Amino acid sequence: MSRPKILITRKWPEAVEQALAARFDVTFNDSDQPMDAAALCDAMQTHDAVLPTVTDPLGAEVFAGLDAPRCKLLANYGVGVSHIDLAAAQAAGMTVTNTPDVLSDCTADIAMTLLLTVARRAGEGEREVRAGAWTGWRPTHLVGRKVSGMTLGIVGFGRIGREMARRAHHGFGMKILVQNRSAVPQDVLDEFGAEQVADLAALLPRVDALSLHCPGGAENRHLIGATALEAMQPGAFVINTARGEVVDETALVASIKAGHLGGAGLDVFEGEPNLNPVLLDCPNLVLLPHLGSATTETREAMGHCAMDNVLAYFDGTTPPNAVR
Ligand code: DGY
Repeated sequence: MSRPKILITRKWPEAVEQALAARFDVTFNDSDQPMDAAALCDAMQTHDAVLPTVTDPLGAEVFAGLDAPRCKLLANYGVGVSHIDLAAAQAAGMTVTNTPDVLSDCTADIAMTLLLTVARRAGEGEREVRAGAWTGWRPTHLVGRKVSGMTLGIVGFGRIGREMARRAHHGFGMKILVQNRSAVPQDVLDEFGAEQVADLAALLPRVDALSLHCPGGAENRHLIGATALEAMQPGAFVINTARGEVVDETALVASIKAGHLGGAGLDVFEGEPNLNPVLLDCPNLVLLPHLGSATTETREAMGHCAMDNVLAYFDGTTPPNAVR
């Protein structure tokens, strides 16, 4: 029997590409350039499965261009699927899968990195040293905020939000407040000494730092905008490792520059990799190029997880990470 024909849209870790090549007829993207809508459409017409990433916008217009597509599976390399129009994929007869769990630790690690970096002014300090501008120790030099013992607000208490809570509470003695769409079981909250609040309005005035772990997409676009930022305590920090669109970047910078918000750490951006220019001219803003899952261990695990989904699908069983 011929092997399923699959396409991976970006370069993946070598070990996973080899494992895929042993099982499938694989079209690789050796250039590692993002594919445009026409190329994605063509891939779905000519392959049994396409394995996209967050850099492949698969909106309704891409699916509208299809004519009896051969593709029946979109096995996303990543947990977030807000770049895929799930209803349009379903209408086109495609199953969508993702790669949860395997990136929770590393994404929470990056969220904590951002919080420490912005609160302790480590980015500013590093730039100063490299610029040869450091004049030596003094009591008033680059004084930041103490992270240990802060009250941390977590928006979205899924796997990554919980890992952030674990680090913050057990590592840094933080009080954890949670805002989540559904009720979090009390025993889960107790694991992190956490308290769930009714809504965002109840959360914002109580926290020293806010870490976002909710889905992106239209439902959460600009969830953290001017009104939300005004409701936060003066000097508070915002950390975003979720999706860029969750934060109104212009309002964020305006709040920092007005001296209200203490600063922010962003790993994701609206329209990335094209940055809103206002972000580049704001010292208490730490900017990372979407590194949440970027460790050897996690990027390989994501690839194997996506591959498990493809194997299950073509074995005729339900993929372990079908997105509903
Ligand atoms: C994810 O898995 O959603 C990360 O943001 C990388 O795509």
